[in-house]
Amino acid sequence: MAVEQATRTPTENAVVDAEPQSELGVSVIIPTYNEVENIEKIVSRCLMALEGHDSEILVVDDDSPDGTARLARESFADNSDVRVIKRTEDKGLAQSVTAGFRHASSESCAVIDADLQHPPEKLPALVDELSDGAAVAIGSRHIEGGGIANWPYHRKVVSKGATGLARLSIPSAKSVSDPMSGFFAVRSDVVEDVELDPKGYKILLEVLEKGSYETGSVAEVPYVFQDRQYGESKLTSSEYKNFVEHLMGLSFSAYGFDRIAEPDRLVRGTEFGFVGAMGAVVNTLVFGGMHLYGGMHYMVAGALAFIVALNFNFLGNWFLTFNQPSEEIRSKYIRFNVVSVGGFIIYSLALATAIDVLLIPALLANVLAIGGSFLFNFIGSEKFAFDIESAN
Ligand code: GDD
Ligand code: MN
Repeated sequence: MAVEQATRTPTENAVVDAEPQSELGVSVIIPTYNEVENIEKIVSRCLMALEGHDSEILVVDDDSPDGTARLARESFADNSDVRVIKRTEDKGLAQSVTAGFRHASSESCAVIDADLQHPPEKLPALVDELSDGAAVAIGSRHIEGGGIANWPYHRKVVSKGATGLARLSIPSAKSVSDPMSGFFAVRSDVVEDVELDPKGYKILLEVLEKGSYETGSVAEVPYVFQDRQYGESKLTSSEYKNFVEHLMGLSFSAYGFDRIAEPDRLVRGTEFGFVGAMGAVVNTLVFGGMHLYGGMHYMVAGALAFIVALNFNFLGNWFLTFNQPSEEIRSKYIRFNVVSVGGFIIYSLALATAIDVLLIPALLANVLAIGGSFLFNFIGSEKFAFDIESAN
């Protein structure tokens, strides 16, 4: 095809391009969790939109308690183009989409939400872009003709912020207007041999960053994101944290930091450092308040500040860095205290050695001592206090 085209004159090419292209077959992946009110409508609308196209529909359900999978099976029992995949382990949106990619049998895959917020009528336009040579076709809310119907202000702001952050930190998302879209299509070979990290909500970012395709072969098709009419969104606040962690991990890899340690660990290290920095602020405030304003002896104020900051750090790391491991909080708390006191001793010894023995200037010595005790505290917290298994 490419060779044939190369021998044509530009005018002939234009004529050929105007003719209908041979359409790629498409597997439409619909991830579902508790979408019993929507499932029949979405599948019917997809079938209708793709009538005449070579297509199949894969409903990938995480064993929804409301019986989404059962209803889908029953309603489309006599249509062999509709398949229902019921997953019973490792629940999650990204995992389900990845499972859809693996089960798909067409030359391309499209991903669409079940709740009718994405218009199935735009599926042919997405597939057309692929048939015309794009490797990835993205349904976009942020180009001419696209939009969001009736979103509350706070969600618009969050979405804008998240989109900006993604475009800033992920190289392959820079030129994409809506890298957060959950509505997109890819040629199957783009995702065939790549290992997608199954965590997080943002499967498209993962595809853009890790998929095999040439830069410049990403197309966008405008669509209007509709209101959800039935059921509720599964995007909970913990997804925001997942998102930021996902973004950090992807950009660490993109900039080669994954040679130092696995991306997950770099993310934890960053969060641990962040909590530690906040802890230092807390320490300073308590110390300043008690000693300077409260007139407390500096040793007592210092001890108090240390204890308050230690508890702050424990909670910060428990929630943020180590994702709220539910069991054994007491034993983790005790072990974290042991590590932190160890870290403090290391810090003091390192500082004394650097200044008195190695004669390093005090400020530099302090930075080195902080670095050393940070590593000790981080690895100790990870391995000893919070029992995290790490590959490197
Ligand atoms: N299998 C499976 N497992 N499906 C899930 C799960 C899960 O754990 N969680 C959610 N889904 C399905 C829902 O049933 C729905 O079909 C689709 O994934 C989207 O879920 P919503 O909960 O409706 O997401 P949203 O509307 O808040 O977010 C959408 O818009 C975002 C853009 O603002 C999604 O399309 C996001 O991917 C998108 O980034
Ligand atoms: Mn939705």
